[in-house]
Amino acid sequence: MQADLLLKNGLVFTPKGIIEADIAVNEEKIVKIAKEPNTPKSEKTIDCRGKIILPGLIDPHVHFRDPGETEKEDFYTGSCAAAAGGITLVADMPNNQPPTSTVNAFKSKVDEARSKAVVDFCLYAGCGSKNISEMVGLAGEGAIAFKTWMYLSSPYSSLLSVRDQEELIQIFTNASRLDMPIAVHAEDAEIIEQATKLLKASSRKDPLAHHESRPASAELKAVRRCLEAAKKTGATLYLLHLTTKDAVEEVKAAKSLGIKVFAETCPHYLLLTEDYILQLGAYAKINPPLRGKDDQEALWRALAEGFIDCVGSDHAPHLKSEKELGQSDIWCAPSGAPNIEVSLPLMLTKVNDGVMTLSRLVELMSTNIAKVFNLYPMRGIVCEGAIGSFTIIDLKVEYKIRADKLYTKARECMLFDGWRVKGRATHTIIRGAVAMEEGVIAGSRGLGRFTPRRLSR
Ligand code: DOR
Ligand code: ZN
Repeated sequence: MQADLLLKNGLVFTPKGIIEADIAVNEEKIVKIAKEPNTPKSEKTIDCRGKIILPGLIDPHVHFRDPGETEKEDFYTGSCAAAAGGITLVADMPNNQPPTSTVNAFKSKVDEARSKAVVDFCLYAGCGSKNISEMVGLAGEGAIAFKTWMYLSSPYSSLLSVRDQEELIQIFTNASRLDMPIAVHAEDAEIIEQATKLLKASSRKDPLAHHESRPASAELKAVRRCLEAAKKTGATLYLLHLTTKDAVEEVKAAKSLGIKVFAETCPHYLLLTEDYILQLGAYAKINPPLRGKDDQEALWRALAEGFIDCVGSDHAPHLKSEKELGQSDIWCAPSGAPNIEVSLPLMLTKVNDGVMTLSRLVELMSTNIAKVFNLYPMRGIVCEGAIGSFTIIDLKVEYKIRADKLYTKARECMLFDGWRVKGRATHTIIRGAVAMEEGVIAGSRGLGRFTPRRLSR
């Protein structure tokens, strides 16, 4: 047998533990995991001595802004950033312009992204009060899940958000019938609007005013509403970027009742607290906002205990000029920060510090995501027959994150410039092809493929 790619002498992360073996990939799939002399010959070989070969990492939460705001990011730069950060597959959010909330918009986004992507991609379909009738068509196009906001101040909010519980239940019902997860940005509109009104009335414009406008109670109320809708409809709920202890407690209780709920958090909530808002100003303006130490500790506990299932970057690039506007008036800056390239090194540093195990990291950044979005076992596991996408890591390398070295267009808005980290991806392999090698992008536009949701029935 001849293979397209042979990963030699690596430590392979398998469900049975880490083993020393070679991996052969042929026609995009893993055809053999074995030791010499049982490994096939290959066109290309990568020496992985001293490195660990993980199942390809997946980022379930990115905003690549394409089409519509490509001055902030586009599918090429965003996916180069993904490859540089060891991410083999991304799931892109629908709040670009026009939103990915109609069949036509979905199709043209697939075409656009196909011509630019360096890593594989899935797309969320947006849903809101004005496009409920499009949900069937969007599912048919292969959307990985639906996404809705419970608060969004955008001209397109009716295509991306719902306000009342009746509408929320309606979209959960449709998602359940279509056997698709429904991902929710859980922050309650009423609480945020009331708080914002009061803060603005007292002329608050400082960065902490934004933080105060989105209290933990907004997340708690929204999470409760979503759990109620999930319970009622049987839908699979994916709670995006949870930030608070109270929300996590609700998830814990709901899981024990058998509600199909999965929770995500992001490296910035695990590593930054609200003090950074004073230091970084509008650059640290993110929705939901950074929280205090208590909440952060609760997130780490939930992560270890298995009540948080996934880690996503919520890569949300914006222009430096837009962020600068917020330094004198926080309401003028957009929310979000670009994190895709640094998620893995930041999390590997925590593995090196003994805060979490490598197995847990692989679950959170690959296996569980593949399971929630129905991509498992083709993704999220290294085994014969699975897709030949891998993240090869060096756990021992230490370095300083440098914003100016990043591939994202929003490098100047990155929150972790100068942080010392230990561990990074040395290679990102996409279905047997090298997308990144030692920090250099080796894959070209179009290497990445649209990955539609696999229907389970
Ligand atoms: O901080 C955020 N940024 N939260 C969101 O919900 C949207 C995102 C963005 O698209 O910039
Ligand atoms: Zn987001």
